[in-house]
Amino acid sequence: MEKKIAGIIESFTEAAKAATDSAAVEKLRVAFLGKKGEISELMKDLKSAAPEQKKEFGQKINLLKKDVEGKLADLAAEIEKKELEALINSAERYDVTMPSSVDTGSYHPITLIQREVEDIFAAMGFTIEDYDEIVDDYHCFEALNIPKHHPARDMQDTYYLDNGQLLKTHTSAAQNAIMRKYGAPLRAIFPGRCFRNEAIDACHENTFFQMEGIMIDKDISISNLIYFMKTMLSEVFQRDVQVRLRPGFFPFVEPGFELDISCQVCGGTGCPSCKNSGWLELCPCGMIHPNVLTAGGIDPEEYTGFAFGLGLTRLAMMKYGVKDIRTFNSGNLKSLSQFESL
Ligand code: DAH
Repeated sequence: MEKKIAGIIESFTEAAKAATDSAAVEKLRVAFLGKKGEISELMKDLKSAAPEQKKEFGQKINLLKKDVEGKLADLAAEIEKKELEALINSAERYDVTMPSSVDTGSYHPITLIQREVEDIFAAMGFTIEDYDEIVDDYHCFEALNIPKHHPARDMQDTYYLDNGQLLKTHTSAAQNAIMRKYGAPLRAIFPGRCFRNEAIDACHENTFFQMEGIMIDKDISISNLIYFMKTMLSEVFQRDVQVRLRPGFFPFVEPGFELDISCQVCGGTGCPSCKNSGWLELCPCGMIHPNVLTAGGIDPEEYTGFAFGLGLTRLAMMKYGVKDIRTFNSGNLKSLSQFESL
């Protein structure tokens, strides 16, 4: 046993001299301290030693193990230091200003469509306004000529906070504040996220985006409204899109319309996205009700205006051929990152 220990010390010392890099140190560790290393083998021999020698040999093996461990640690530290110095002095330098190789991100399709529509309206003299997602009953309903208990509220059930505020059900909720902020004449669009208590399916979401627009001036008429809508849609789709105007009821406009566009997913033949009708309600609109102008501090005798509530999420579905509205909030990068990269 003594001989063996001396032999191991000798061979370790020799091998340690030859080790010049950290890979060699690791090899050394495995060869002497590893499960099948020299010292472990020695432990096995201990089993067959005479009982009176076991304690003594055991202690010696432990000392040997500690000695080898200590020497290995010193050697590793020494070599690491040398390697670091070599790296510092070598020509290899890191440029911390280099761009990382992380994949570039992409814009969400709603962001893309929103920016596109914003650019179109900005070019036509509209300002772009931001507005809260949490609003009060007055702005979401009352200021829009929807008094308490009006049946129009049934369509817009939403999420209420304990303090009586609510998550806005439509971007129209910003109309009053914007009228009060700027007065007339006024051209503004205001995109925003809206919330409703909806049963979710391929064409309904509880969280979706709209873009509201209002134009108020002297002698604004339905022709102005139709002109702006057509211009915007032909810019977005880069082609003539079929539209139809139907009468529609909204308490904050008079007269009110539903502007539909032919379904761009199925081409008008009918599919789940358009509830098999071939048409998609895209942009309800109308002439702003005098009560709404008055609530916004604008004299309806002097000014008239139009308003529209463009379904941005719908528009994105049409433009990009997205069949299921749930894709947008899915967080599924495979679907969402294919529209345009940064
Ligand atoms: N705010 C309405 C909704 O989400 C849509 C709407 C209809 C907006 C007519 C308008 C409008 O500006 O004139 O159901």
